[in-house]
Order: sequence, then structure tokens, then C-alpha cells
Amino acid sequence: MTALVAPIQEEKISCKPFVKWAGGKTQLLPEILKRIPEEFGTYHEPFLGGGAVFFALQPKQAVLSDLNEELVSCYSVVRDNVEELVSWLKQYSYDQEEFYRIRALDRSPEYALLPNYVKAARLIYLNKTCFNGLYRVNRSGHFNTPFGRYNNPTIVDEANLTKCSQALQGAVLELNSFESVVERAQTGDFVYFDPPYPPLSSSADFTSYTDKSFSWDDQVKLRDVCLALDKKGVRFLLSNAGIDSVRELYEGFQVSEVVAKRAINSRADRRGEVFEFLISNSF
Ligand SMILES: C[S@@+](CC[C@H](N)C(=O)[O-])C[C@H]1O[C@@H](n2cnc3c(N)ncnc32)[C@H](O)[C@@H]1O
Repeated sequence: MTALVAPIQEEKISCKPFVKWAGGKTQLLPEILKRIPEEFGTYHEPFLGGGAVFFALQPKQAVLSDLNEELVSCYSVVRDNVEELVSWLKQYSYDQEEFYRIRALDRSPEYALLPNYVKAARLIYLNKTCFNGLYRVNRSGHFNTPFGRYNNPTIVDEANLTKCSQALQGAVLELNSFESVVERAQTGDFVYFDPPYPPLSSSADFTSYTDKSFSWDDQVKLRDVCLALDKKGVRFLLSNAGIDSVRELYEGFQVSEVVAKRAINSRADRRGEVFEFLISNSF
């Protein structure tokens, strides 16, 4: 059994996510942070994305995971090899031709042989310069978001990347699907879940962060994971869409409603305020 420890580093490093990620939780942070227990063992975040909650909280012991291989590898590079990453990024410029040249790298068989810091630099570069910062791959796993129009985007924020690297020093990074958290989490641990959301309507919304999409069956599996964690004495907090089907799925848990702004939607008229749920168990 994990001993309870004060979860927050005494000296927190002030940093922000080094990638913009669809569903990023920066704007909901105050609501999320006030629902996180003051003490817990290890912090787990199985849908890491941009890691807004991890970077705000900076727990002493953390296991961070995601199913997006490029993303997890990029985090490892930020943690272990930030100098090489920064110097590689510095040679890239904001230019449409350069964007499509760098985007096309994953179409060639040699891509697999590139050092991880080059692939990480490519991910960050594309994230800063593609349309809406959206990570999207086609069926073959090739990045296919088009060039984005920005006014002088910051491609390399050396100070922030260095601080993110420091914040990640104690973190374990894993390429794994969310179900694996049931094996890892011990009594007294805490898990924050931020899954892809079910669409608000059948035609709406973006749920594909990897080459696999997140189905309703996955939502049900995720609820079952929460039930298993609850049984094990693990506390959790889960963000999800504020829709009736989600409320019904989590019947018996605490469900609170918060207001969020949705930026990523193919239709401009649907970018507005939406309700989200924050769902938790209690001990
Ligand atoms: C809503 S985003 C997380 C956003 C994050 N909280 C932030 O602040 O940026 C959801 C993440 O879940 C990941 N994901 C999708 N399916 C998954 C699965 N089956 N297991 C683990 N991660 C998955 C995606 O790659 C994506 O990074």
C-alpha cells in the first residue's frame, strides 16, 4: 500500500503545457484543482495530452500516460534531452513550404530511424504552426493537419521547455491505454482522467487524437475502470461532456457541472460555452 505523502512539490516551477492540445484543460484548472484531494500517494494521468493539470499540480510522484506514441515520446525527450530538442527546434522557421516539408517526414520509411529529439522537435513545430494546433493523423498514421495562419508564432519557447523538463524529472511516462491504470494505481493514489468526449451531437466534434477513435464502448470501459478504482480505494476525478448519457453512466458518483469554452469545433458557430461534468468518488 502506498503511504500518503504531501503531493505537491514545495517549490513549484511556473510552467505551462509545451503543446496546445485539443480539449486542453488550462481554462478549467481552477475548478479541477479545487476538487483534487490535498493528500494522496502517486498521481496518475492516463489521458495526458498537453498535461495542463499535471503541470499546474506538479505532484512529487506521477505516472503519466497516453495512447499517442509521438506525444509520449516527445514528453520523454522534454524530460531527458531538452537541450538537444531546443537546439534542433531553433533551426525551424514559420514558413508554409518548410511546414509541408517537415510534415511530410513521416511519409518516408527513414522517419522511424530519426533520433527521438528530431521527432519531438517536429511534433512541437507542427503543433505551433498547423491549423488550430490540432494533432490529427490519417488512417496510415500520417500527420495531416494543414498549415495554420498565425502572426509570428513562437516555435521555440526555451524557458518554458526547460521548466517543463524540470517539472517532469520525477515522472514516469508510459505509452498505454487508460485501462492499465487499474493495475498500477494503489490504495491512496489519485487519478485524473480527461478522455476524448462523446460528441454533443452525432455529426459534431472531434474525437480522434490518435489513429483510433474513442467510441461509446470505450466510455463504458472507462466507467468500469472508475468502479474498479473505487473498489480499490483509489480516488479519481474525471472530466467529461455535460450530457445526459454521461450523467447516467456515472450514476452513484458525484457529478458537478462546470461551464467551459470549446475552441476546437469544425463549425465556428459551435465554438461557445458548453457544460462539462467533473465526476469523482469520495472517501
Ligand atoms: C482530451 S485529451 C487530454 C487533454 C489534456 N488533459 C490537456 O490538458 O491537454 C485526450 C487524450 O487522450 C488520449 N487517448 C485517446 N484514447 C486513449 C486511450 N484509449 N488510452 C489512453 N489515452 C488515450 C489522446 O491521445 C489525447 O491525448
